[in-house]
Amino acid sequence: MLHTSYIELSKRALNNNIQFMKNKAGRGVKYSMVIKANAYGHGIEDLLPMIEDAGIDHFSVFSVTEAMRVHKIKKDVCDLMIMGFVDDDYIEWAIDNDASFFVFSMDRLKAVKQIGKKTKKRAKVHIELETGMHRTGFCQDQLEEVVGIIKGNPDVFEMEGLCTHLAGADSITNYKRVMDQIVTFQDLCSWFNSEGLASRYRHIACSAGVLNFPDHVFDLVRVGISNYGFWPSNETKMMHMRNGDIPEDPLKRVLSWKSEIMSVNNVAEGKYVSYGTSYLTNRRSKIATVPVGYGYGFNRTLSNNGHVLVHGKRVPVVGTVNMNMMVIDVTDLPGVKVNDEVVLIGEQGDVEISVSSFGDMNNSMNYELLTRLPDHIPRYVIA
Ligand SMILES: Cc1ncc(COP(=O)(O)O)c(C=O)c1O
Repeated sequence: MLHTSYIELSKRALNNNIQFMKNKAGRGVKYSMVIKANAYGHGIEDLLPMIEDAGIDHFSVFSVTEAMRVHKIKKDVCDLMIMGFVDDDYIEWAIDNDASFFVFSMDRLKAVKQIGKKTKKRAKVHIELETGMHRTGFCQDQLEEVVGIIKGNPDVFEMEGLCTHLAGADSITNYKRVMDQIVTFQDLCSWFNSEGLASRYRHIACSAGVLNFPDHVFDLVRVGISNYGFWPSNETKMMHMRNGDIPEDPLKRVLSWKSEIMSVNNVAEGKYVSYGTSYLTNRRSKIATVPVGYGYGFNRTLSNNGHVLVHGKRVPVVGTVNMNMMVIDVTDLPGVKVNDEVVLIGEQGDVEISVSSFGDMNNSMNYELLTRLPDHIPRYVIA
């Protein structure tokens, strides 16, 4: 093995999740797969062909740099949507390359107006509306001016979308806030219509929106985490599995992360292991090192806390996780040797370490854990 660890991506799982979420979104609703943050850590370049094989032709990213990565592989991708950062210097790139993008401030709208006068194509814009998230988006008192600028420059603007983002559709505690957002969004869309500015797509729903507010997804959905086999929250999972009525999780993990044993050592009873004094052997122990540490996305908070799989058994991480290595206790596994497979996320025999259990060990969410997996770990596609 050249690299210290590798990631496997399951085509079957990805396809399963996409079809499940597409069904939830409903017929006639455009399905945009969110592949920002390196496709939630899975790897944009590796995943893109798999996503296309699953019938997806609309991708959402956060920034121009991510859009460029997609564009490099798929030059003729038109349905590419940038939901976040577009520096003024790159507006022209977005327009020329048919990438649509969110416009959420007057500065950006005016910059597009100015730059769009020089480009041959029109700018495909999604006007983001502030409906209650209070993050990005035009407030209502700005909308007359927005409409004036867009209508006054029909050679520059193409109204690709009207959109907003829900502030926590994954939890019932936010129900009222989210419903208020939906009503506000609906009213604002009607107002844009009455002003003669209809858009191609109205969109509001992320994974939790699709799963928990299926009657309010409008024309396009921007689905991220669930494509990768994860529920946006445990609460959403419980609601959909009807507290146990549905025995099998309909979402399947796409990613597995594996490494191998680098060395095996015997350590006497009463010795400290790894840096410092956080772990003291309480018996004659056999410890092994795995060449993955916090520098590879295996969080330091998993020191004396995490588990990995070896020989189909869960074994504990002992001592502090180092930059490039962790130490595991394999005393109870006879015959463990160098090069034996170590599963950090995934299955081995009958046992599994899921990303969520991995996350539970250190209180981080699926989202955070996945997106911390570095680009340089090689990804392999499996059936
Ligand atoms: C604007 C926007 N839309 C959609 C998504 C996708 O969300 P999820 O991964 O929960 O489906 C995100 C994620 O952060 C987002 O910021």
